Amino acid sequence: MTEPSENNTPSRRALLGWGGAGLALGAVAAGGAVAATRAGDDAEPAGTDTGAAIPFHGERQAGIATPVQDRLHFAAFDVRTEDRDAFVQMLKDWTEAARRMTAGQAVGDGAYGGLAEAPPDDTGEALGLKPSRLTLTIGFGPSFFDKFGERFGIADARPEALTELPKFAGDNLDRDRSGGDLCVQACADDPQVAVHAIRNLARIGFGKVVVRWSQLGFGKTSSTTPDAQTPRNLFGFKDGTRNISGTETDRLDRHVWVGEKDGPAWMTGGSYLVARRIRMHIETWDRTPLQEQEDIFGRSKGEGAPVGKAKERDKPFLKAMLPDAHVRLAHPDSNGGATILRRGYSFTDGTDGLGRLDAGLFFLAYQRDPRTGFVRIQRNLAKDALNEYIQHVGSALFAVPPGVRDKDDWWGSTLFGKEA
Ligand code: HEM
Repeated sequence: MTEPSENNTPSRRALLGWGGAGLALGAVAAGGAVAATRAGDDAEPAGTDTGAAIPFHGERQAGIATPVQDRLHFAAFDVRTEDRDAFVQMLKDWTEAARRMTAGQAVGDGAYGGLAEAPPDDTGEALGLKPSRLTLTIGFGPSFFDKFGERFGIADARPEALTELPKFAGDNLDRDRSGGDLCVQACADDPQVAVHAIRNLARIGFGKVVVRWSQLGFGKTSSTTPDAQTPRNLFGFKDGTRNISGTETDRLDRHVWVGEKDGPAWMTGGSYLVARRIRMHIETWDRTPLQEQEDIFGRSKGEGAPVGKAKERDKPFLKAMLPDAHVRLAHPDSNGGATILRRGYSFTDGTDGLGRLDAGLFFLAYQRDPRTGFVRIQRNLAKDALNEYIQHVGSALFAVPPGVRDKDDWWGSTLFGKEA
């Protein structure tokens, strides 16, 4: 990463995606492309400079309202040290590494040329790659306060909104893929850049934190840029049509950013992240008639138009949809106005041993308060027709603090005190 690449064409790695996973889904993606060409009405994706650097410093953490990148590596960590100073120092070291990696630079003194007797500061696999719009976003889980609130002297700073999510109808959660004291969401347009970032943070955290679980995502399922072509999820439907856009500052203030009076001051300007690993039963879906598929979402498969309307962006008329249609039940009008910013990714982690793809949606949603955001909507989705085809198998909640302001600031400074 120290040397900017001269080559503007996407790398072979970027095209192939996650090794076998990318190849396995190549078939799905190719099928979608063929259908789009046949229907002749899907526009080309809007051009983005996929190699650019996204500023790390700012009022908000990048990776929330930022236009969604193509790839994800998400990691949840458990804290292993009981030493407050050591933990704070790790957050500072993480910040410095994140500052460098998001700018396309190697960690510390780089991957080579240093002491022959010591392992290099950077692991090296991102050398020569562009910044690829890498964003790194940190969050603190409820268990962090359960375990370390008293010991680290921050128990009083725990937000009321940071309480474990309730159990929902149909949940089949795997403990080993749920929870976490900390999380880091790495998004980038090159998968190797995202993986490199998480790997190097885990390495810096050695002895202080361990990775509890992690998830790779290969295809964005939501857009925060309405001008771009809406991406499709693994059920083949446009996903993210009615999402909050990254430029709608009013809606972001109302529904995504934590306000001054919402709770402890350290979270002002931050957000709450709900992560759910949702398995999608692709094989069953693929045997479901088109009409039924469209009824389940309440939108058409080709255009993505709401029932009874012609165009994707036409205002949905909810009463025209079946009572258990996903869009009808998830829409703000069915949830007292509840609105979330979705930023999820498709995943496929090989097969499940029964000949089925272990695939689905790694659902990520940001909101001002999870109780009036995700929880409200997910409860209403108990009667969703989609539930026959999906199952929630992992779950986590994180308080995502505001941004790192400048070169002297660090992740968590609002929680631990700038002088810590
Ligand atoms: C695998 C699971 C899921 C799939 C495949 C899926 C797919 C979709 C699709 C295709 C749309 C219509 C296009 C759009 O407006 O984005 C949609 C809308 C939406 N979904 Fe989901 N979704 C899933 C899970 C969830 C969950 C768990 C939630 C929240 C608890 C959720 C909340 C929403 C919301 C808020 C909308 C927009 C409704 C509107 O304003 O019209 N979805 N989803």
